[in-house]
Order: sequence, then C-alpha cells, then structure tokens
Amino acid sequence: MPVPDPESPARLVAELRAKLQHHAQRYYVQDSPEIPDAEYDRLFRDLQAIEAEHPELRSADSPTERVIGQVLDGFAPVRHAVPMLSIRTETDTEASGAQAFDARVRRELELADDAPAVQYNAELKFDGLAINLRYEHGLLVQAATRGDGETGEDVTQNIRTIGQIPRRLRSCSAPVLEVRGEVYMRRDDFERMNERQRERGDKSFVNPRNAAAGAVRQLDPAIAAQRPLSFFAYGLGEVRGWDQPATHSATLDALLAMGLPVCADRAVCQGAAGLVRFHRAMGAKRDALPFDIDGVVYKLDSVLQQQRLGFVTREPRWAVAHKYPAQEQITQLERIEIQVGRTGKLTPVAKLAPVFVGGTTVSNATLHNLFELRRKRVRVGDQVIVRRAGDVIPEVVGRVIGAGGERTGYVPNFQMPRSCPACGSAVAMDIEGLGEKRVDQLVDGDLIRTLPELYNLGLAKLAALDRMGDKSADNLVAGLAKSRATTLPRFLYALGIRHVGEATAKELARHFGSLDRVMDASSEDLLAVPDVGPVVAQSIRAFFDQPHNREVVEQLRAAGIHWTEGEAAIAAPQTLAGMTLVLTGTLPTLGRDQAKALIEAVGGKVAGSVSKKTHYVVAGEEAGAKLDKARELGLVVLDEAGLRALLGGLPADPP
Ligand code: IVH
Repeated sequence: MPVPDPESPARLVAELRAKLQHHAQRYYVQDSPEIPDAEYDRLFRDLQAIEAEHPELRSADSPTERVIGQVLDGFAPVRHAVPMLSIRTETDTEASGAQAFDARVRRELELADDAPAVQYNAELKFDGLAINLRYEHGLLVQAATRGDGETGEDVTQNIRTIGQIPRRLRSCSAPVLEVRGEVYMRRDDFERMNERQRERGDKSFVNPRNAAAGAVRQLDPAIAAQRPLSFFAYGLGEVRGWDQPATHSATLDALLAMGLPVCADRAVCQGAAGLVRFHRAMGAKRDALPFDIDGVVYKLDSVLQQQRLGFVTREPRWAVAHKYPAQEQITQLERIEIQVGRTGKLTPVAKLAPVFVGGTTVSNATLHNLFELRRKRVRVGDQVIVRRAGDVIPEVVGRVIGAGGERTGYVPNFQMPRSCPACGSAVAMDIEGLGEKRVDQLVDGDLIRTLPELYNLGLAKLAALDRMGDKSADNLVAGLAKSRATTLPRFLYALGIRHVGEATAKELARHFGSLDRVMDASSEDLLAVPDVGPVVAQSIRAFFDQPHNREVVEQLRAAGIHWTEGEAAIAAPQTLAGMTLVLTGTLPTLGRDQAKALIEAVGGKVAGSVSKKTHYVVAGEEAGAKLDKARELGLVVLDEAGLRALLGGLPADPP
C-alpha cells in the first residue's frame, strides 16, 4: 500500500480546507474566532496558491470558491434577492497593491495605454458585519445577515434597535430598495462595554467586530438593544422602481440624502495615483478614527463599467479591498509583570516577544486583571493574540488554541501578589459593590484620598455620582457596612505593614490580643512572637512610629471598622468573594464536601447548577451534563489542580 506523503499537495489542500472550515465556523457562526484574521488570511492564501498550481485539486466546495457562513438555529432564513458576495483582498499593503488593481481593471476594460485615468470611488473597509436592509415604499421591512451569501438570517428585530438606521427613508417611496452596509461598534463604545462586562465578571469580547456580530446575532433583542451598535451604508441589493445614479459615489450621496449613515471618509479618485493617495491618507488617519478598519475599498465609480466587468465566482471584478497591517497578531507571552496604577490598582501586564501589530512593534500588553487572565486560560509561555487598535493600550485578547484544542483542566502558572509590589501594602479590603472604575471615579473626583474617607462618604454623595443608580449606591453602602466588621488579624494584614503577611498578622493577634498592644510593643516584645525576626520587628515598629499611620488607624476605628479583641481565629482572605462555582464529577483526592468547605472558607459560593452566572466549573471523573453545559457556555473548567491553584496554593506545573 502506498504511504501517503505528508507533504503531498493533495494532503496539504485537504488539511488547509479543514482548518479554514473550522476557523470560518468559529468566526462566522460562533462569533468567537481562535486565530487572528491575518492568520486566517495566510491560510487562505496558502490554499489559493496550491490550488492555482494544481488545478486538478480544485473543488466547488473549497473555501476559496464559496462564501462561508451558515444560518444559526433560531433565526428565520432569508433568501437574498441579489446574492451578497465577498470582495477580493489585496494583501500587498504597499502602493503596488493599488497599482496592480488599476492595471487589472484597465486590462479588463480593454483600455489603451494612453486612455485617460479610470475613475474610482474609494471608501473605508469597516470591520463589522455585512447587513442587507430591505426598504419597501420607504419603510424598513427586513434586515438580514450575509450568511453564506445566498441565504442569510432574519435579524430585523435586533437591527431595529440601532438608532442610526432609519425606519422610514426620507423622500423615497420606491417599491423595493435594498441598502447594504456594515454594522459595527465604535472603539469607545466597545471599551466601555467590555469594562462593564469585566466589572460584572461577565465575558469580555475579543474585539469590536466580534462584539458587533455577537450583538446582531443575539437571539434576545432586549440584550441586543443594550449593545451600542452603529451602521454605515456602502452599496445596494435588489432595487425596484428607483433610478440608480450613474456612479457609485452619487449613489452614496443619494443614500445619505435619504437619511442613511454614509461615512464621510470617501473620495472619488483618478487612476492608481489617486488610489495610492487615498490609501496613504486613510492609513495616517487610521488610529484617530473612532472605529476599526482593516483596509480601504476601491470600487469602479461608473455603474456601467461595473456591469461590464461583472463577477467571478465569489467576488466582483470591479472592486478590491486594499489592506493595512493587521491589528491582531500572534506572539509568545514571555512573562507577566504587575503594574501599579495611580490609584493603587494592580494590573497584570504581559511581556511579549516583540511583534508588529497595528502599525507598531508591541512588547507590552495589558491583561486587565487576574480574573480575565484566568477566564482566558492564559499561561506564561503560551502563544497569544495581541490586539492594538487606535490609541487604545495593546491587550492580550486570548490564547491561540493549538492542536491540543481547548484547555479544560486549566492550571494558571502565574498568581497576583498578595501585596503591592510598589509600596508593600496588602491588596485587601474587598468591598462588595466597589469596582476599580468606581475607585478611579472617587479618587479622580477628589471625593476620597484615603481608605477612611471612603467609609465616611454618605449615601447622598455616593448616589450623586455619575452612572451610579440608587440600587448600586445602596449596594455599595451595604458592602461598606459589611466590610466594617472584620478580625484583628485581617485588619493588621490590611494595614499593609512591610513584611507582615497573613501568617505574621495572625501570630501578632494571637500573641498580643489587641491592636493597642501591638501598636505599643517594643522591638523586644515583638521579637518574642513566633515568626517575627529583627527585620519584621523593625518594620512594625517603624510603621507605628509614623504619626500618619496611627492617624489612619484611628480614622478607620472612628469610621466604624471593628473586630473582637482577643480573638485568635483568623478568617482566610476572601479571595473568591462574589464568585459562584459548580462542582461536578469525582475529584481525584478531594471529597465533594471538602471541596465545598474549602471554597466557602475563602468566600466562594457553591451552586448546584451551571448558568451564565457561574464563574468556574470544577470537573472530575465522570462529569456529565454540567460539564457539557459549561463547555456550551464557554465557562472556565478547572480540574482539582486548577481548583487548588484558585484557592491559593500553587501546585507544581503539570507535565
Ligand atoms: S462592498 C460586492 N464596501 O467587506 C461588494 N464591503 O468581503 C460587496 N466591507 O463583509 C462589498 N466595508 O461587509 C464593501 N466599504 C465597503 C466595505 C465592505 C466593509 C465588508 C463587507 C463584507 C466584506 C467583503
């Protein structure tokens, strides 16, 4: 039997097709890609190149021959009266890309070398989701996604929630006018929405495009309505009873006059030189635009000339997308460092193998916070996707899911420090209802400078804050009230005395029994405490010798922070406060009750069923439906080692 050659073109083609199909499914159907677009484009081009060299391997169902995308269950299919095609991509990001397109158009229009320059309309290539809006007699009757180009999804209800899209066209009563364009999310809207998601502990979105696509294809229009979407019109579908202007540029003007949003960054250009100028001008402006673009689009301006050129299988011959350097790239996560913000906020920062992304070389990117990092199952050493768009700080949006597939038993190999690397003060005082954003707002607004001031803010002042509803103000007041009752060891630990960790705080409380006795203890007294050596004793002494520190202690006591003196038992830091975990299956060493007790000891809740609100699912042997549900919802699934890591003790890295 012949042994298949792993390098044979047939085998490569089959592999590339399978990969592209998989990634297209993640991108178009699940709105959750595993690789950056640039990587997808590379695979696509590889396949095109092999197929060009080996025509015998071509096939009608190759991704190069079709528009991929399929109708999601739950949306009614819509057959497009005029197919929604794709557009040819020029990946040569230099001027030569535009020149090649112009040369091809001139050849296909059979123009003589000395014929005048061809007129084009140049516009931006918006990075969102293509939508067909069907207006009948001026009224919006249906909105559909592109789907596979022939059949899309009826998303009328969701599209109606976009304020920019008119329900009725201005002075147009044509029986049928289909307008095509892109639904997208502005970068500032995206950042705000993601920040909100992170604060709530909900899943954040990888980029504005996925967020927009996810919102449009959200089965619940009420949820879609909460996602801030925008729209630009760029073309037509079926038209009946309307005289289309003779040029594409005039068509866009007409759509604008009807009340549809049309992007102002467009230009009528003469020949290749005009296209190159537009490409450069928009490239220079790209970072300053309020939304993502991945290139520009050139279209023959004359509708007659467009008709003469027509289409090839999946793309019009009269248009091309001319790309810019990608805003997402793959690189290696080399290590993680902690950055201390002005307000004391700790942010894990990824140190990356330098990578050219969004037009610059990036070697640092934010990981936002520890919870995000865990949700994304990122480990030091991983290949990760970095995004840099506009003037937004570069970020790690996820890990590349390699041949090994999804990471199920996730064990992080990085932990946030328990004390601030800059000043040594403890990272404590977990207050329910108080997110990082809120702390920034309080500090920036000069409402608080110190912790005691936070406790003294009244309900009235909190409720008067921007974006603070009555309910959140109540919650925050309740959270503050709850955090007032503490224990002596926890209070000592939270003071952030250098070298005083949880264990030392516990010993100090046990030995002295009261805060006053700790504050007044001499160095010798302190040395009598197990675990306390000269360095620690000196540090405690120095701390309480500072009048400012004694003042803060008094202010905190005056603000109602209290504990029972003489109490020796220490509560563990509530590292899982506010989080819900679900246990399923049999863990290798921990019994279910044991695991539950460990989770509850650090403030976590153990629930009986998996939902979107579940933060972690801990799965052991023979985990069943709960695990399936967790996978379906894209939740973080931990094994026992992962749970132990989450609880604090970092086990050795798995093999
Ligand atoms: S015209 C027949 N113009 O790019 C030509 N498309 O592969 C149809 N896109 O998903 C496309 N900006 O949604 C056109 N100014 C623009 C565009 C644009 C973004 C998207 C489009 C589609 C993809 C084409």
